[in-house]
Amino acid sequence: MEVLIFNNETAASEYAAQEFSKRIQHKATTVLGLATGSTPLKMYRELSLLHQSEGLDFSKVNTFNLDEYIGLSGDHPCSYKHFMNENFFNHINISESNVHLPDGMTKDVPKTCQEYEEAIKKVGGIDIQVLGIGSDGHIGFNEPTSSLSSRTRIKTLTKKTCEDNARFFNSIDEVPRHCITMGIATIMEARRIVLLAFGEAKAPAVSKMVEGPLSAMVPASILQMHPNVVVVLDRSAASKLSHHDYYYRVATNKPNWQRL
Ligand code: GLP
Repeated sequence: MEVLIFNNETAASEYAAQEFSKRIQHKATTVLGLATGSTPLKMYRELSLLHQSEGLDFSKVNTFNLDEYIGLSGDHPCSYKHFMNENFFNHINISESNVHLPDGMTKDVPKTCQEYEEAIKKVGGIDIQVLGIGSDGHIGFNEPTSSLSSRTRIKTLTKKTCEDNARFFNSIDEVPRHCITMGIATIMEARRIVLLAFGEAKAPAVSKMVEGPLSAMVPASILQMHPNVVVVLDRSAASKLSHHDYYYRVATNKPNWQRL
């Protein structure tokens, strides 16, 4: 697991955007795995700028989002579909038919989940996946105790996650209790994973993910088993890591051929 610590969120987000941009330039049909929440916002802004100023071309790119709330339609202002349109898709030249999010209004959840898995396979799997991390160590909406070999399915959100996400709603009572999320095994099949975390509130979860034991109580700790992950942090999110100095040492001594 590579850990990169940047001075601030902006520098970290620009680095992450470069990771995505380089891949899209290399392979026009890149399949992106995308996340919601505040964390990837600056990265999406940077990628939108790269499209507008340098013509970064998303016309052949496919995207798969990690999750969606059950009971919210795509035009609901708190749905993840709406979030993605507002913060990313409306600013780039992506084709609507290439954008995929689980359908939160489905009448048949298991079938929708199965079809989501099949759609990912059909385009050849996810090339690069961005992740945030919940303060309880969740990735996607895979809450603590999620099966580490889970596939896309329904999950019940913890009280803590509802509280954390209540800021996007009028009140906590409006936060749906259920969601559809890619499973942990689904996420682990992405060829490259870029996990972003910013701010002090994420420091305990980051430390458990990177340096703690592998445990379903910290779903993000499964990333220790992935061969191609980079954890991109600002100083505050990195503040509880004990091997701090080593991560800087690795970054400073990185051979040129390993750099972006
Ligand atoms: C939600 C999303 C996660 C995200 C997490 C953290 O639970 N399902 O994908 O990583 O929030 O959100 P934020 O980036 O706002 O801290």
